[in-house]
Amino acid sequence: MPPLTRNRAGQGDMPTGLMALYYAQRASAGLQIVEGAQIGGEAAACPGTPGIYNAQQVAAWRRVTDAVHARGGVALVFLQL
Ligand SMILES: Cc1cc2nc3c(=O)[nH]c(=O)nc-3n(C[C@H](O)[C@H](O)[C@H](O)COP(=O)(O)O)c2cc1C
Repeated sequence: MPPLTRNRAGQGDMPTGLMALYYAQRASAGLQIVEGAQIGGEAAACPGTPGIYNAQQVAAWRRVTDAVHARGGVALVFLQL
Protein backbone atom coordinates (compact mmCIF):
# COMPACT_ATOMS: atom_id res chain seq x y z
CA MET A 1 0.00 0.00 0.00
CA PRO A 2 1.51 3.35 -1.01
CA PRO A 3 1.74 6.32 1.36
CA LEU A 4 -1.56 8.21 1.49
CA THR A 5 -1.80 11.30 3.66
CA ARG A 6 -5.22 11.24 5.38
CA ASN A 7 -4.93 14.28 7.68
CA ARG A 8 -6.30 12.37 10.67
CA ALA A 9 -3.67 13.23 13.27
CA GLY A 10 -4.76 14.81 16.53
CA GLN A 11 -3.56 17.74 18.59
CA GLY A 12 0.20 17.87 18.93
CA ASP A 13 0.60 15.93 15.66
CA MET A 14 -0.41 12.76 17.53
CA PRO A 15 -1.28 9.56 15.62
CA THR A 16 -4.87 8.67 16.55
CA GLY A 17 -7.07 5.66 17.11
CA LEU A 18 -8.81 6.51 13.84
CA MET A 19 -5.45 6.08 12.10
CA ALA A 20 -4.88 2.74 13.84
CA LEU A 21 -8.29 1.59 12.59
CA TYR A 22 -7.57 2.82 9.04
CA TYR A 23 -4.29 0.93 8.77
CA ALA A 24 -5.59 -2.17 10.55
CA GLN A 25 -8.45 -2.36 8.05
CA ARG A 26 -5.78 -2.53 5.30
CA ALA A 27 -3.44 -5.03 6.98
CA SER A 28 -4.00 -7.54 4.18
CA ALA A 29 -1.87 -5.31 1.94
CA GLY A 30 1.09 -7.09 3.57
CA LEU A 31 3.42 -4.10 3.12
CA GLN A 32 2.25 -0.62 4.04
CA ILE A 33 4.29 2.52 3.44
CA VAL A 34 2.56 4.77 5.93
CA GLU A 35 1.83 8.42 5.16
CA GLY A 36 4.49 11.10 5.39
CA ALA A 37 5.18 12.09 8.99
CA GLN A 38 7.01 15.19 10.10
CA ILE A 39 10.24 15.09 12.04
CA GLY A 40 9.62 18.33 13.95
CA GLY A 41 6.86 20.68 15.09
CA GLU A 42 7.61 23.18 12.32
CA ALA A 43 7.96 20.62 9.55
CA ALA A 44 4.32 19.86 8.71
CA ALA A 45 3.39 20.17 5.04
CA CYS A 46 -0.30 20.64 5.83
CA PRO A 47 -2.70 20.46 8.82
CA GLY A 48 -3.59 17.12 10.40
CA THR A 49 -0.45 15.25 9.43
CA PRO A 50 1.18 13.10 12.13
CA GLY A 51 4.58 13.57 13.71
CA ILE A 52 7.28 11.26 14.93
CA TYR A 53 9.51 13.58 16.92
CA ASN A 54 8.64 12.83 20.54
CA ALA A 55 8.13 9.82 22.78
CA GLN A 56 4.34 10.20 22.97
CA GLN A 57 4.07 10.10 19.19
CA VAL A 58 6.33 7.05 19.00
CA ALA A 59 4.08 5.31 21.54
CA ALA A 60 1.01 6.27 19.51
CA TRP A 61 2.60 4.93 16.31
CA ARG A 62 3.26 1.70 18.18
CA ARG A 63 -0.48 1.43 18.79
CA VAL A 64 -0.98 1.81 15.04
CA THR A 65 1.53 -0.94 14.17
CA ASP A 66 0.18 -3.18 16.95
CA ALA A 67 -3.32 -2.81 15.47
CA VAL A 68 -2.01 -3.74 12.00
CA HIS A 69 -0.07 -6.73 13.29
CA ALA A 70 -3.10 -7.93 15.26
CA ARG A 71 -5.02 -8.16 11.97
CA GLY A 72 -2.48 -9.56 9.55
CA GLY A 73 0.26 -12.06 10.36
CA VAL A 74 3.09 -10.78 8.13
CA ALA A 75 2.16 -7.12 7.74
CA LEU A 76 5.20 -4.84 7.44
CA VAL A 77 4.80 -1.15 8.21
CA PHE A 78 7.29 1.51 7.10
CA LEU A 79 6.87 5.15 8.01
CA GLN A 80 7.64 7.81 5.40
CA LEU A 81 9.61 10.70 6.95
C1 LIG B 1 -4.83 11.52 -0.93
C2 LIG B 1 -3.42 11.15 -1.31
C3 LIG B 1 -2.43 11.25 -0.35
C4 LIG B 1 -1.09 10.91 -0.67
N1 LIG B 1 -0.12 11.00 0.29
C5 LIG B 1 1.14 10.67 -0.02
C6 LIG B 1 2.18 10.72 0.97
O1 LIG B 1 1.95 11.02 2.16
N2 LIG B 1 3.43 10.41 0.57
C7 LIG B 1 3.74 10.05 -0.73
O2 LIG B 1 4.91 9.80 -1.04
N3 LIG B 1 2.76 9.94 -1.66
C8 LIG B 1 1.50 10.26 -1.35
N4 LIG B 1 0.52 10.16 -2.30
C9 LIG B 1 0.86 9.62 -3.61
C10 LIG B 1 0.43 8.16 -3.68
O3 LIG B 1 1.30 7.36 -2.92
C11 LIG B 1 0.41 7.73 -5.15
O4 LIG B 1 -0.68 8.40 -5.73
C12 LIG B 1 0.28 6.23 -5.29
O5 LIG B 1 1.53 5.66 -4.99
C13 LIG B 1 -0.15 5.79 -6.69
O6 LIG B 1 0.77 6.24 -7.63
P1 LIG B 1 0.24 7.05 -8.92
O7 LIG B 1 -0.56 8.20 -8.43
O8 LIG B 1 1.51 7.46 -9.63
O9 LIG B 1 -0.58 6.05 -9.69
C14 LIG B 1 -0.78 10.50 -1.99
C15 LIG B 1 -1.81 10.40 -2.94
C16 LIG B 1 -3.09 10.71 -2.61
C17 LIG B 1 -4.17 10.58 -3.65
